[in-house]
Parts: sequence; C-alpha cells; structure tokens
Amino acid sequence: MKCRVLLPSVGVLGLALALALARPQAASLPAQSSTQSSAPKNNLQILPKDLAWGELIETMETFSRALGVHCEHCHVGQEPRWDFAADDKPAKQIARQMMLLTRDINTRVPTAVNKAPGAAAQVECITCHRGVVTPRQLGDILADTATAQGSAAAIDRYRELRAKYYGGQSFDFTENGLIALAQRLNASGKTDEALDLLSLNAEFYPKSRRTYDAMAQLYGQRHDTGRAIKALEKVLEIDPDNVDAKRQLAKLTSPAR
Ligand code: HEC
Ligand code: HEC
Repeated sequence: MKCRVLLPSVGVLGLALALALARPQAASLPAQSSTQSSAPKNNLQILPKDLAWGELIETMETFSRALGVHCEHCHVGQEPRWDFAADDKPAKQIARQMMLLTRDINTRVPTAVNKAPGAAAQVECITCHRGVVTPRQLGDILADTATAQGSAAAIDRYRELRAKYYGGQSFDFTENGLIALAQRLNASGKTDEALDLLSLNAEFYPKSRRTYDAMAQLYGQRHDTGRAIKALEKVLEIDPDNVDAKRQLAKLTSPAR
C-alpha cells in the first residue's frame, strides 16, 4: 500500500479518500475502536488535518510495515490508552522529517527522469527501510561487526538476522552477499575474517562454486597450498568442467613448483 497522502496531486488524494470511505470498517485495525475513531486529530503537522480516519490509519500501518515496528515505536501509551497526538517519542519527530524528505525526493524524481508528475515511480518509506528501522545493507552491518568484534560475532549476527528476516526484502541473503563481503574484508587486510565468512557461506550454500573459488584465491594468496588445493578440488566436484580450476590445480600440484 502506498503512502498516498504523500503524493502531491489533489486528484490522487481525492481518489484515496474515496477509496478510504468505500472501505468497510475493518475490525482488525489496531486502533479502530469507537472512542478512537471519533477522537480529534489535533496534532497533524504534515498530513492534511481533514484526512479521513481510515486513510490516516492506513498511512500509519504503511509506516509500521515499512519499518517493521508497531505503533508504540513512535507513539506513547498502549492499547487501549494511546496518546497518538503526543510528540514525546523521538521516532515520531524523526518520522515527520522523513515524511518531508520522502515528499521532497518525490517532487524531484519526475524532473530527474523526464516524466510527467504521476508517471514516474515514487519513493516510499519501504523503498529505503525494507522492513527495518535502520536501513543498512547486510554487508555493511557485518563488516562493521567483523571489524569491531571479530568474525565470530559477525557470524552470530548473520545467523540471527537470517533466522529473523530470511525470505523477506530486508537483507540480501543470496549466495553472493557473503562472497562480496569476504572480498571486501580481504581487501582491507582481514583475510582470516574473510575466510571465516566464506566457510559460513559454504554451510548455507554447499554447492556454491564461487565460494570455493574465492577460498582458493585467499588460501593461494597466503601460500596455504594444502587448503587452496582442497578448495579447488571442491570447485571441480561442483563444476567438473571448470577449466580455470583445473589449470590452477595443475599449477599448485606440479612438482616443478
Ligand atoms: C514511524 C513512526 C510511526 C509509527 C510506527 C506510527 N505512527 Fe502514527 N504518527 C506518526 C507521525 C509522524 C504522526 C504525525 C503526522 C503529522 O504530523 O502529520 C502520527 C500521527 C498519528 C495519529 C494522529 C494523532 C493526532 O491526533 O495528531 C494517529 C491516530 C496515529 N498516528 C496512529 C497510529 C497507529 C494506530 C499506529 C500503528 C498502526 C501508528 N500511528 C504508527 C508516526 C508513526
Ligand atoms: C531515502 C531513504 C529513506 C526514506 C525514503 C525514508 N527513510 Fe527513514 N531513515 C532513513 C535512514 C538512512 C535512516 C537511519 C539513519 C540513521 O539512524 O543512521 C532512517 C531513519 C528513520 C527513523 C528513525 C529510526 C528509529 O530509530 O526510529 C524513522 C522513525 C524513520 N526513518 C521513518 C521513516 C518514515 C515514516 C518514512 C516514510 C515517510 C521514511 N523513514 C522514509 C532513510 C529513509
């Protein structure tokens, strides 16, 4: 569901309001009780003050989903006693700034891509947040953890995030993520950490040729011929016709070395 209210066009907003009115009073909405639906919206600073209740709650649910949080992340109180108008929580105030930022981006996008307003794709909270409060890439999170606390901590973090978010859009858990991170760690001299993360990748992707390829490179780089050979053998087990691996293996095992 889009943050419709963030769109500049009055026409779209009108349509959104019509849709909101057409929606049945969904009993499943978290804050949809009779007292609250008649409560005044007295502290709207960004959203239109006359915004229909249904549309307001829909926007709030969009925020919550985008960040992977519940109402209480930004609002004081709890069911059934909320004070939605209060600005006590810093997250609510940040969210207002974020609404402006998102609106600002969306105002500039059509010009940037030479499209009529309304024809260009819109940035939404979820575009950046992808279901998490702090929208960072998995590789950045793990690189920081590995640098500050070592690879065991980075591996724990990966397992934890994977258990929680795998299958969603929050983080890239494909085979390539940890390989790219390993290369990055190696480039900054952290070869041990890089190799630990490649082993972790092999655990989740035992058929990943690229993982063993990368291991072979790193072992080769530190002249650990025995382990480099083992990794290349693994590459050939997965991909028997791999010419590169055959060539490298021949080189490492040749007596002339
Ligand atoms: C990411 C932060 C965030 C989350 C999560 C969030 N809200 Fe809000 N909410 C806001 C902000 C910001 C405003 C004020 C918007 C403005 O100033 O135009 C607001 C305003 C409101 C208001 C109007 C209050 C008033 O009287 O001014 C209600 C009602 C509300 N939220 C309900 C909810 C409900 C219900 C949820 C959970 C489904 C929720 N919100 C989740 C940030 C959030
Ligand atoms: C262009 C990308 C982008 C968009 C769009 C965006 N955000 Fe954010 N948001 C960020 C980044 C980056 C941070 C974290 C900055 C930091 O803390 O390091 C953040 C932080 C926040 C936080 C503070 C996190 C916390 O600890 O509670 C809130 C709340 C928030 N965003 C709400 C929103 C809402 C609501 C929207 C949509 C109206 C939105 N954001 C749209 C990039 C974005």
